[in-house]
Amino acid sequence: MQLPLLTILLATVSPATGQLDKLAKAAGLKYFGTAVDNPSLNNQAYMRIARNSDEFGSITPANGQKWSSTESSQGRFSYGSGDAIASVAKHRDQMQRIIAAHIQNVAGHYKGQCYAWDVVNEAFEDDGKFRQNPMYRAMGVDFITHSFKTAAQTDPAAKLYYNDFNIERCCNAKINATLSMLKTVIAAGAPIHGVGMQGHSRVGKSPSKREMKETMAKFSELVDEVAFTEVDIRHTKLPVSAEDREQQGRDYVEVVGACLETPKCVGVTVWDFTDQVRHVPVRW
Ligand SMILES: *[C@@H]1O[C@H](CO)[C@@H](O)[C@H](O)[C@H]1NC(C)=O
Repeated sequence: MQLPLLTILLATVSPATGQLDKLAKAAGLKYFGTAVDNPSLNNQAYMRIARNSDEFGSITPANGQKWSSTESSQGRFSYGSGDAIASVAKHRDQMQRIIAAHIQNVAGHYKGQCYAWDVVNEAFEDDGKFRQNPMYRAMGVDFITHSFKTAAQTDPAAKLYYNDFNIERCCNAKINATLSMLKTVIAAGAPIHGVGMQGHSRVGKSPSKREMKETMAKFSELVDEVAFTEVDIRHTKLPVSAEDREQQGRDYVEVVGACLETPKCVGVTVWDFTDQVRHVPVRW
């Protein structure tokens, strides 16, 4: 009866959400590990998996600690290759502690007072690739899972959001990447309750109500609620004509209408309500 066993294994261990180390630990092992060789450190797709602590709880330097790397001639020791591999593991653990301490402090300080937290903000580039921020470089996508789990433990009553810009108009590469990240992170057991669409756009270039409803319908399949979190629709030329103002009004009506006509949309926040301040995204 080999077949039923195989079927059960495949159903339990989905390759899309691989969790080798988690499963190994649940089964009583100390770790499930991988070897990593120095040339692979430059391969981003590879390192995303190697750094995922749900996949690998141990890293063995493939060559970095061998004689050829550490003492290639007698009495002359060099640790560059070994250190490069060791720092992958060290950075991951360090970053995990830094993120936990930050969230426990900040969300702990306001515990019970916030309706929702923007737990992870702007993780993607517009082309759908992960931004190379310090958290991502140290931990891969696992930094998102870890952040949401920590936030849930720290402030259990709050709604926990993923928030980003240019994810309003269905369906670009960034929206696709966001959907896929949500699936991965939720499957790894982290609670993501909401998706915030920032809603920064330009007068006359704003997404239509239909496009935004289409996007929200997709997010609604994965999370409990969605919201417009930072809406500002800016003029692109000055002085502003009467037609420009009317167009701006119509653009805001589309956004609010999209929320009103989406069952899981809970609210709209403007960023903010005068032209004195402008949105400046953080760059790493
Ligand atoms: C996004 O995903 C949809 C549905 O899977 C697909 O049709 C579309 O081509 C994707 N768009 C981009 C830009 O990747």
